[in-house]
Amino acid sequence: MTMGEAHEADTLERTEGTTVAAPHAPAPAASPVRVAVAVVEPDDHQRDRLVTMLGSSVSAFAQLEELVARLSSGIGVVVVLGPSCADEATLAMSARISAQYPNVASVLVTDELTTALLQQALRAGVRDVVTVGNDPAVLAQSVQRVALTFDQLTAAAPAPAAPAAAAPDATPAQPEAPVPAEDAEEPLDCKVITVFSTKGGSGKSVLATSLAVTLARSTDKPVCLVDADLQFGDVAVMLKLAPRHTTADVLPVVDRLDAPLLNSLLVTHEPTGLKVLPAPLEPAFADQISSAHLTKIIEVLRTFCAYVVVDTPSYFNDVVLGAVEASDKVVLLSGLDVPNIKNLKIGLQTLRLLETPEDKLLLALNRADSKVKLDVGEVERTLQFKASCLIPSDVVVPQSINKGETVITFAPKSGVAKAVTQLAESFMPAAQRSKKRR
Ligand SMILES: Nc1ncnc2c1ncn2[C@@H]1O[C@H](COP(=O)(O)OP(=O)(O)OP(=O)(O)O)[C@@H](O)[C@H]1O
Ligand SMILES: [Mg+2]
Repeated sequence: MTMGEAHEADTLERTEGTTVAAPHAPAPAASPVRVAVAVVEPDDHQRDRLVTMLGSSVSAFAQLEELVARLSSGIGVVVVLGPSCADEATLAMSARISAQYPNVASVLVTDELTTALLQQALRAGVRDVVTVGNDPAVLAQSVQRVALTFDQLTAAAPAPAAPAAAAPDATPAQPEAPVPAEDAEEPLDCKVITVFSTKGGSGKSVLATSLAVTLARSTDKPVCLVDADLQFGDVAVMLKLAPRHTTADVLPVVDRLDAPLLNSLLVTHEPTGLKVLPAPLEPAFADQISSAHLTKIIEVLRTFCAYVVVDTPSYFNDVVLGAVEASDKVVLLSGLDVPNIKNLKIGLQTLRLLETPEDKLLLALNRADSKVKLDVGEVERTLQFKASCLIPSDVVVPQSINKGETVITFAPKSGVAKAVTQLAESFMPAAQRSKKRR
């Protein structure tokens, strides 16, 4: 007898075979979410262990087939696949089930998380892969996260809504996101914008994050911010994200990278819907990521994003040159001090030597109202380049960073927000401007 049969009498609550478990996820905290939870694991011992972790109200099955026999459309079902389910056939079956039943989502439990397994699972539509060890909270939290996404999808239900903010570090595949399907209606006219400066601390990350957020709020299509400052990138920190995946996770699968796989590795900035590919958490990974890797990432992002914004380090390297090459526009950012301008002049010369088309380049001057000796006209003459964007200096910038917000949402009326918005709008088709304000 399977545990599913053992629990059958007290867990089935609908007559048409819809419900496979008690109508709540084993939430560790937060308000209960009305989904059913089922464990599938052939090994008796492992299955018992998972059921014990999740609580007695779950149903348990030895095989996916047994679960399928009990499914129909209706209440959301989170399927916890045990470690023995991590084989190709079971994951393929799980993928078919998810395709047939949009109300079913799965979480895979594994003893050892490898990149190959992660890739295989994500391709099969598994929403999360967890190593649980002896901590029951890890599994319960994963189930809860997936359950919350069901809740968001069925927001019409009168149940107390689980706010999106309650699941800041959502599962790899965000169901709310527009799906980067191969059969999307028409190819997106994606614009790739790299923000670069030849001087550290000039405000690249402030501009890149604010620009990306502004663009994300202007369209319903995905917008992605890529942190190509691979060693010291701080985009994730600036946006208060706790990334599950970074560029380091793209690396092992880069040869087989496609839109669904890449999308599943992006983290969503919940307040604005912006997708983010953060820099590796370990600077050691930076050396392993080449220009070709970044170019491939951008190429795949182009297939499903309306805009891609790339933040960079403050020096030329292969990766930066790859980003410049792969971009439609490059925003060169500079402060109004002599070393900044000198470095930018050298940077411009380098880009010209590399035959970067002049119309790809834009000049943005940061802290452009500072009481310094240089004035904007003087700088433009020195660089032989007209500035497209003048960003004032404002204390709201560091204040917003300390809050984990961009200046766009923190101080929308500030001069900084207005300057960034104007710059963002110069990249938008007219119809797209101000379409969406999250
Ligand atoms: N317009 C502004 N007004 C006030 N402060 C600003 C402005 N722009 C940037 N800053 C401040 O400058 C600092 C550096 O900004 P940021 O991290 O964006 O620079 P960066 O060019 O990305 O630096 P790095 O080269 O280290 O990556 C931040 O602390 C930010 O608060
Ligand atoms: Mg930076």
